[in-house]
Amino acid sequence: MKEAILITGGAGFIGSHLVETLLNKYSEKNLIVLDDLSTGKLENIPKDKKVKFIKGSITDKNLLKNIFNDFKIEKVFHLAAVASVQRSVEEPEYTHQVNFDGTLYLLEESKKHKIEKFVFASSAAVYGDLEELPKRENMAIKPLTPYAVDKYASERYVLNSYNLYGLKTVALRFFNVFGERQDPSSPYSGVLSIFIDRIKRFQNGEDVKITIFGDGKQTRDFIYVKDVVKALILVSETDKSNGEVYNLGLGKENSLLDILKVLKNLIGELPPIEFTSPRKGDIRFSRADITKIKSVGFKPDYSLEDGLKRLLMYENIKLTSVV
Ligand code: NAD
Ligand code: UD1
Repeated sequence: MKEAILITGGAGFIGSHLVETLLNKYSEKNLIVLDDLSTGKLENIPKDKKVKFIKGSITDKNLLKNIFNDFKIEKVFHLAAVASVQRSVEEPEYTHQVNFDGTLYLLEESKKHKIEKFVFASSAAVYGDLEELPKRENMAIKPLTPYAVDKYASERYVLNSYNLYGLKTVALRFFNVFGERQDPSSPYSGVLSIFIDRIKRFQNGEDVKITIFGDGKQTRDFIYVKDVVKALILVSETDKSNGEVYNLGLGKENSLLDILKVLKNLIGELPPIEFTSPRKGDIRFSRADITKIKSVGFKPDYSLEDGLKRLLMYENIKLTSVV
């Protein structure tokens, strides 16, 4: 039987970067990408004979059984999800099936087949709008949306599987991830993907604006996607992480105005900026305490500015100076 690593959601933004890195790192292993392409794209998946793409849903129990019977799955990186909070509010039942039931089905198969490690993508959304900063893993949580509730419940099942059944598991609470291939097409897409899209269109002569909801002083802890991948692999390789949850950000806060300043320095002229009312329920400040993940050896490679430069170059956006 072929040894393999299963990546759910591997055709998506973060998952496809993970597949790319795993392919370089474990050149002898087969990588199985399970994705229903609901938001992911086939062209995101690296073309390589070691990568096998299976189009299907994590809610399809028979499909999961077949995958675990056909391959010797050593590790699971579980990233497939309805990743849009807005969609979770509009379609709570569907979201619950994917974001919660899907996780449970994957855990069952992982347990049955005694895999080596199960890594789960959780979210800073579990903290909700509680004000205390920085966010530490042992703080109170306040999941405010179906998305956040299902992430939290899944996280608990994932972590409890270690204590109850000895399945080695770990969960990471991603803060605001940005990078290449993040889809800017929805109004609820990551703010940096939207800013970059507007800059690109502006440089192409389109009449576009950057919209800021509120005064632009709200902060987020942005982390570049390659550092997210680094952390996912790191926690998958150490037994110290078994049954643990970790925040994943840079541990730094940047306001939207700070970011626009950085972008202006890199690019020169920005599209006109329009300020409008704050979004309902918007969190004012956000920053992760990353002491815990640092204690297992995590060290980010990219500052916010490094990540932004790479993203701008990928998008062929003209920079003012050679960087
Ligand atoms: P994404 O939408 O690009 O990736 C999700 C992938 O899952 C897509 O390829 C989609 O087609 C796939 N998928 C959805 N439903 C599926 C199903 N039923 N069966 C199989 N595949 C399915 O989003 P992303 O930003 O890459 O998010 C990856 C993970 O990270 C998600 O679990 C998300 O909740 C989590 N996360 C992301 C962020 C962020 O800032 N991007 C923050 C916190 C948590
Ligand atoms: C992020 C998650 C969300 C989660 C929340 C909880 C993403 C894409 N979203 O939301 O799923 O519920 O954390 O922690 O990761 N903004 C603008 N202009 C725009 C777009 C956004 O000013 O064109 C503002 C928003 O109002 C917000 C900030 O930018 O203040 C960041 O927005 P966004 O990228 O959507 O992420 P979060 O709100 O942090």
